[in-house]
Amino acid sequence: MLRILVLSAVVVLSSAQVRNCPDNDYGPRECTCTIVNLAGIDHRIIDCQGKSLPAVPAGIPADTFSLDLSNNAITELSADAFTSLNALEQLLLSGNQITAIPDGVFQSLEDVKVLRLNENGLTTLTNGMFSSLVALEKLDLDDNRIETITGSPFSGLARLRELRLNANRIINLPTAVFQGLAGLQKLFLHDNFITSVPSQAIRSLNTLIELHLENNDILTVGNDSFVGLTSMLNISLSGQPDLVEVQAFALRGVNRNLERLEIRDCPKLTILHEETFRDFTLLQRLDLSNNNISRLPKAALENLNRQALVTLSGNPWICDCRLSWLRDWMDEAVMNPDLLDINNVICDAPPKLKGQQLEIVNRFDLDDPDVCNLLNPAGQIGAGPVVVASLFSLFCALALSFAV
Ligand SMILES: *[C@@H]1O[C@H](CO)[C@@H](O)[C@H](O)[C@H]1NC(C)=O
Ligand SMILES: *[C@@H]1O[C@H](CO)[C@@H](O)[C@H](O)[C@H]1NC(C)=O
Ligand SMILES: *[C@@H]1O[C@H](CO)[C@@H](O)[C@H](O)[C@H]1NC(C)=O
Repeated sequence: MLRILVLSAVVVLSSAQVRNCPDNDYGPRECTCTIVNLAGIDHRIIDCQGKSLPAVPAGIPADTFSLDLSNNAITELSADAFTSLNALEQLLLSGNQITAIPDGVFQSLEDVKVLRLNENGLTTLTNGMFSSLVALEKLDLDDNRIETITGSPFSGLARLRELRLNANRIINLPTAVFQGLAGLQKLFLHDNFITSVPSQAIRSLNTLIELHLENNDILTVGNDSFVGLTSMLNISLSGQPDLVEVQAFALRGVNRNLERLEIRDCPKLTILHEETFRDFTLLQRLDLSNNNISRLPKAALENLNRQALVTLSGNPWICDCRLSWLRDWMDEAVMNPDLLDINNVICDAPPKLKGQQLEIVNRFDLDDPDVCNLLNPAGQIGAGPVVVASLFSLFCALALSFAV
């Protein structure tokens, strides 16, 4: 019940009894003090948002349940800023200028479930720095300047479910960084400078269901990048400006119940292999839009659930017999047109078909054996691995044998 109060204060405020704190027990005068009564239990809420406070004000009552210090001008926390606040469950420090966390500052906060430190100036995470927050469920470190990480900053946080590290300056994640996060479900790492999937660091996160790596600098998604993620449902890898290849077994070891995979907006992503998505028959959403994919073998997608929403638009498709399987898919009555972004699958080649929607390309043009043979004289194509090319020829042959 307390968790509900923490996570949706608005709902609770409307359904619970709220009153002002008594004058003689009000806490810092620059803040607002209210008591929320929920199921007969009082919870003190101290709201000091946006008061230009240069430091944590003195005199916060020891029974405070939620303390909101967001959007002030706090630059430093004194080591004893929160001592005696044993009842605290929510501590909001977003939007300040905190650059360092003194040792022991969270020592007495054994019941805190939500800690927000986003939009501050933290640069460094050190071993065990959050360890005393043993009840923590949600930690928000978005929009800091975190670059240096040593040891296991989150050790001891066995109840943490959501960790946010978006928009920092992380390049590397050391192997032990997530050690101790035995129940982590959501990990947010987008908008950093990460150059490869942090496979070693995430390996032990077997409760993780959602991983966000958008807008980093990942160059290759290598084989076995996500091994150990046996509960994973959602992976997003979109927005890697220099990503060229997703290797064939990039997703090996990921939970087969994966529901959502987004790899879009990678302008150099040219090489995909037929094996990559093969095991994920329960995918509901596969987004490969706005990449540089010109060819995709049928085998890459044929195991997918036909109700999956597959997005392939914004790629420079080469429309020849090797892509006629996709044209077939588009024609299939069983395929709900809303589930494939048909209108926006546009041919980039051959010249004759450039700019046309694949969906309305004349089947004779697509299946023209001369074009196919011309483009693929000896099982080779200009871009993409040879293995893919030879499979394309196979599909070409199949497509031809089924034509008419
Ligand atoms: C997966 O991601 C989508 C969109 O980001 C979100 O709506 C959905 O709730 C996520 N599902 C899980 C299980 O994390
Ligand atoms: C990826 O794994 C497959 C199968 O084990 C292997 O054939 C392939 O060479 C690997 N790719 C790379 C780049 O190591
Ligand atoms: C896109 O792929 C083609 C080959 O299919 C390649 O020539 C081109 O350089 C790629 N573009 C980018 C931006 O990587």
